Amino acid sequence: MILALLSDDADAKGPTEWGEGRHGVGPWEGEWPTDEKYDREMLEHGDTRNVVDAYRYWTREAIVADIDTRRHPFHVAIENFENDANIGTVVRTANAFAADTVHIVGRRRWNRRGAMVTDRYQHLEHHADVETLVDWCVQRDLPIVAIDNTPGSIPLETAELPEKCMLLFGQEGPGVTAQARGAAVMTCSIAQFGSTRSINAGVAAGIAMHAWIRQHADLKHSWP
Ligand SMILES: C[S@@+](CC[C@H](N)C(=O)[O-])C[C@H]1O[C@@H](n2cnc3c(N)ncnc32)[C@H](O)[C@@H]1O
Repeated sequence: MILALLSDDADAKGPTEWGEGRHGVGPWEGEWPTDEKYDREMLEHGDTRNVVDAYRYWTREAIVADIDTRRHPFHVAIENFENDANIGTVVRTANAFAADTVHIVGRRRWNRRGAMVTDRYQHLEHHADVETLVDWCVQRDLPIVAIDNTPGSIPLETAELPEKCMLLFGQEGPGVTAQARGAAVMTCSIAQFGSTRSINAGVAAGIAMHAWIRQHADLKHSWP
């Protein structure tokens, strides 16, 4: 019954918003810190942002600068020729795993809702087409790893991902374009066992990014 009500209501909140107001801190108690990384407004009124406790009361610029000191050398690209609704999810996950940059290929506009404001702390780049993205990667010696379950792909579960790379995802429907797959050093598929032809692109991106994390990240640097 509750589920039915939620799915009928277009404005119903998703699980991530149910916690609204439950996280956050009030005004700073005691003497204010003098370090410039602190935001005076937040010290005065509190900080209700969805950021880890270590960044409470920090300015956005200070948070980005701190993540920049330990970003991982993998990038993420998602094709956006049909206004893919999953990009927000991809950006949020890329932020969580401290990806270097998220590259939007195709349309510049994307639905920011799923990002839950994490795009403010994540480097983003736009490329008008696949060719521009490929040039960008060639100039930086960055191999493209396409993620799709197309013929000839190798299992992500056993693939060795390059430490420095561009993980590239396709859209619901068409999947990764042939042009992008042609430019990739390999295409990796995520093993499936049920009836569906594919999984959601945002979910696939999360799985692939975590595969990179398992292979290359130093867990000592993750948040406790
Ligand atoms: C919903 S899929 C659509 C294309 C898919 N090739 C098909 O046949 O239906 C959208 C994107 O999600 C990712 N994806 C979905 N399922 C995947 C899987 N099993 N392995 C690798 N990537 C997958 C890929 O990046 C893909 O381009």
